[in-house]
Amino acid sequence: MSNEFPFLSAEYAARPQPFWKNLRETDPVYYAQEYGFWVISKHEDILEMLKDPYTYSSAAGPGGGLVAGEDGEQRDDNGGMGFLPLIQHDPPEHTRIRSLFAKAFTPKRIAEMEPAVVEIATNLMDELHQKIRNGEALDLVDDFASPLPVYVIAQMMGIPLEERHRLRMWSDSLAIGAGEGYSIQQQLGSRKEMTEGLSEIISAARHNPQANTLISAMLDASEEGENLRTEEILGLSKLLWLAGNETTTNLISNGVVFLLNHPDVLADLRNDRTLISDFVEEMLRYDGPVMGLFRIATRNVEFRGKNISKGDTLWLLFSSGNLDADTYEAPETFDLHRRNKDHLALGKGIHFCMGSALARLEAKVAFEWLIDLLPHMKLDFENGKRIPVPILSGWVKLPMSVDVGALEVAS
Ligand code: HEM
Repeated sequence: MSNEFPFLSAEYAARPQPFWKNLRETDPVYYAQEYGFWVISKHEDILEMLKDPYTYSSAAGPGGGLVAGEDGEQRDDNGGMGFLPLIQHDPPEHTRIRSLFAKAFTPKRIAEMEPAVVEIATNLMDELHQKIRNGEALDLVDDFASPLPVYVIAQMMGIPLEERHRLRMWSDSLAIGAGEGYSIQQQLGSRKEMTEGLSEIISAARHNPQANTLISAMLDASEEGENLRTEEILGLSKLLWLAGNETTTNLISNGVVFLLNHPDVLADLRNDRTLISDFVEEMLRYDGPVMGLFRIATRNVEFRGKNISKGDTLWLLFSSGNLDADTYEAPETFDLHRRNKDHLALGKGIHFCMGSALARLEAKVAFEWLIDLLPHMKLDFENGKRIPVPILSGWVKLPMSVDVGALEVAS
């Protein structure tokens, strides 16, 4: 394999792992001349950069403005949402906002969501079973993997679930893949509506201090007399939709695809459901939803003998680091009992995913339901569609069929 990095090609999209392996082995700090950015592929290097936000800035945003569509055109990766607080901030602003936000988005608040997550998953499953009985067309993403995280975050924010249609539209039009199903006017309209809708919710929460929602907790959060500003609360609310929904959807969809292709792993999970959390963790390492994000060098730096200049863009390939043979034993083997459970799928350092506990909870609940459905499920890959951008791994569409007879016997 030549030392090129054709990340816009169909071959790369179908199976990027061999390209990553080649880079790790031959040129781990690779300058992709044709695109004008560095590609960092080894675990230890990615980790070092993530832990040095003073040298490697997040200001350009998670996609670094370099996300390309199917047509090969580069486009704004923030879904046209503009600057996003926290994920695009460097210290000291990052430290201030993260610390205030952490007072609202607490582990306790997330843990307390468990019954609600179970209820939302149960309702979605009931609806799915009804659709199966009615012989309606089914899609794994649309009917389960996407609505689950959307309804969960909506409930946390205090958005009434009766507004489901509106919420789905907000979320779909933001999602990199699903957004393509909407015209540009619809997408822009939906984003505007989302901004207005969230602003209304924030101002309603101001007038209802008793409400115990994530939004009211953001309004209350204070440290040394400082509070989050209204525009920061709005930005963080948008960030939660952007960072939390599509990623979790992809973790669920990738997991289903993997289990259907690996019936032995499915059998292990069905025999011992306590392994589901290990499955989720290994799935994050093996085929994580976020394949890589960008940083910008703030100064000239020599790294592995390469001269990175101030202002250069670097693509940190988390998913490649997660397959690095210098860090993991048999990295290409999916091992439910892997001892080294540390991975880069949720980032590291100061930007480590703030929703990691929520994502893990949602995925655990989802697979507790799905492993009973999976033996009766078939996915129609020919009519499915993968997310067409190289920073995310997942599915936009995955039509499925479920053997209704077998389901009746099982239930
Ligand atoms: C499996 C699902 C998820 C994956 C794979 C994922 C992945 C990531 C990654 C890789 C980062 C680091 C970004 C960077 O270093 O630039 C991140 C940050 C973040 N994630 Fe997640 N995420 C997931 C789910 C969620 C959920 C459910 C939420 C909340 C509802 C969330 C909220 C955030 C926030 C707020 C940040 C920014 C933290 C900061 O910049 O300090 N994520 N996520």
